[in-house]
Amino acid sequence: MVSSQRVAVAESEPSRRLYRLDEIHRHNSTADSYWVYYGTSVYDITDWVPNHPGGEVILRAVGGNIEPYWNIFTIHKKQEVHDILEQYLIGEIDPRDLVEGKAPNDEVDDPFKKDPERSDALIVRSSRPCNAETPKDQLETFITPSDQHYVRNHLWVPPLQDAESHRLTIELNDGTEKEYSVRDLRNNFQHHTITATLQCSGNRRAHMSAEAQATSGLQWDVGAISNTEWTGVRLRDVLRDAGLQVDELPEDVKHIQFTGAEAYGASVPAIKALDRYGDVLLVFEMNGQPLMPDHGYPLRLLCPGHVAARSVKWLQKITVSEDESWSQWQRRDYKCFGPNQRSDVDWDRASSIQETPVQSAITSISTIAKDRLANLRLAQVYGLEEDIVRVAGYAMSGGGRGIIRVDVSPDNGRTWQQARLIKDECKGSKSWSWKRWEIAFSKHDLAKCVVVKAIDDSYNCQPESFPATYNFKGNLATAWHRVPV
Ligand code: MTE
Repeated sequence: MVSSQRVAVAESEPSRRLYRLDEIHRHNSTADSYWVYYGTSVYDITDWVPNHPGGEVILRAVGGNIEPYWNIFTIHKKQEVHDILEQYLIGEIDPRDLVEGKAPNDEVDDPFKKDPERSDALIVRSSRPCNAETPKDQLETFITPSDQHYVRNHLWVPPLQDAESHRLTIELNDGTEKEYSVRDLRNNFQHHTITATLQCSGNRRAHMSAEAQATSGLQWDVGAISNTEWTGVRLRDVLRDAGLQVDELPEDVKHIQFTGAEAYGASVPAIKALDRYGDVLLVFEMNGQPLMPDHGYPLRLLCPGHVAARSVKWLQKITVSEDESWSQWQRRDYKCFGPNQRSDVDWDRASSIQETPVQSAITSISTIAKDRLANLRLAQVYGLEEDIVRVAGYAMSGGGRGIIRVDVSPDNGRTWQQARLIKDECKGSKSWSWKRWEIAFSKHDLAKCVVVKAIDDSYNCQPESFPATYNFKGNLATAWHRVPV
C-alpha cells in the first residue's frame, strides 16, 4: 500500500493512528513497550521480542528505524519477515516528520566494526557475520594453526573486557549466583589440556544441496572443521566449587545452559557437562596461546564430541537448569527433520543435535609420477610402481568414539580399499580429535568418482546417499563423500 493510502487509513481506523518521531524514539529498549518503524509505518513489536530468532539483539533497533539493521542482517530481507512485522502494525509516521515523503535515515552503530583482522588464507563464506572455512592444506595437518581455525559467528565479535576484568556468572538451580574472573579460574583450578576437533553441524552442507535438494544456511564445503589443543579448567570442578553436588545431581538439574556476551546461547545435557571423563572445559588457551578473538577470547566452553554449536564462545553466564537453553540456536537452528518435512515442522518435538555422527571427507587428490616413487612409503604400503594417485582427508566421530577404519573407493563404490590411518598424539580422556588418513591407487584404477566413508568404534558408518538423509536445514551432512575424477 502506498504511503498516502496508509496515512488515510491510520487517520480513519480507530486501531491505527499517526505517530510523531519523538514519541517512537521514547519506546526504546528502556521502555515497557517496544516500537520500531519501517518505511513510514510504525509497529509495536513488544510481543514479538521474546520470539525473535536472534534473541535480544532486536532491542538495538527499538525506538527507531529497523531498516538499517535489516541492511546488516540481510537474512530479514524476505517476504515472510515482512509478513511477521505487518502483524504488529499500529499506524503511520506523522507526515510532519517526513522529509520528501520519507522517514529520516537513522545512523546505526555498526556492530561489526570491532571485528578482528583475519588471515587471508581463510575461505570466507560470509563476512558480516564472519563465517569462514579452514583452507584445504590445513585440513591435512593434525593441529590447525589458530589463525586458520574455521570461524562460525552468528553475530559480531563482542568487544570484550580483557581477561582481567571479564566475569563469568554461574547461576545454580536454586537461584544462587557466584562470579569468577578468568584469573580466578586460572589460579584456583587444575588445568587440563586436550586435543579436540570442532565441527560445525553444517559442515559439507553444500554437498547435501548438490546431491539432494536446496538447503537453507551457509553452503559449507569440507572446511567447517578444525582440530586444536585446548587448555582450561573442568566445568565439573568449577560447578562443584559454585555449590553444585556434581556426583549426586538434584532431580531438577537436567541441562547446563551457556550464554555468550553477544547474545548467543546453547546448552548441553548435565550428564555430559559433569562427566568426569567428558572433558567439558572452560577454555582460555588454544594451541598454547590465549584464545583468539574469533574463537571466544577470553573464555569459551569446549564440549568435545558434540557439534561445535554447543561450545559457546565469549562465555559470560552458566545456568544450571531443568530446561534446555531457550535460545533460537538450541530450540530451532540445530535440529534435523525427515527428507519429506519442510519449514512447517513441530520444532519442539525434534531433539536438538548434541553428539556428532561419524563423518569423513576427502581434502586432496594428487598424482605422483612413477619416477618420484622411490622411498615413498605410501607407494610401498600399497605395492604400487606405476603413476599413483594419493587421496587424503579426515575422519571423525562424536561422543569420544574413535575411528577404526576408513574405506576408500577409486571407482565410485564398485571396489574398496582401506586407508592408512595416521597416528597422532591425541590428549584427553576419549577420542576427541579427527583421524587423518591417506591412501594410494594406481592411476589406471580411478573411474568416475573417488568415494570415502568412515567407521567408528561403535561400528557406526556414514549413510550412502544424501537424498535419504536430506533435511531442509542441511544439518549433519555426513553421506559418503564423492569427488569426481
Ligand atoms: N558462541 C557464540 N557466543 N557465538 C556464536 O556465534 N557459534 C557456534 C559456537 N559457539 C557461536 C558460538 C557455532 S554454530 C559453532 S560451529 C562454533 O562456535 C564455531 O566455533 P569457532 O568459530 O571457534 O570455529
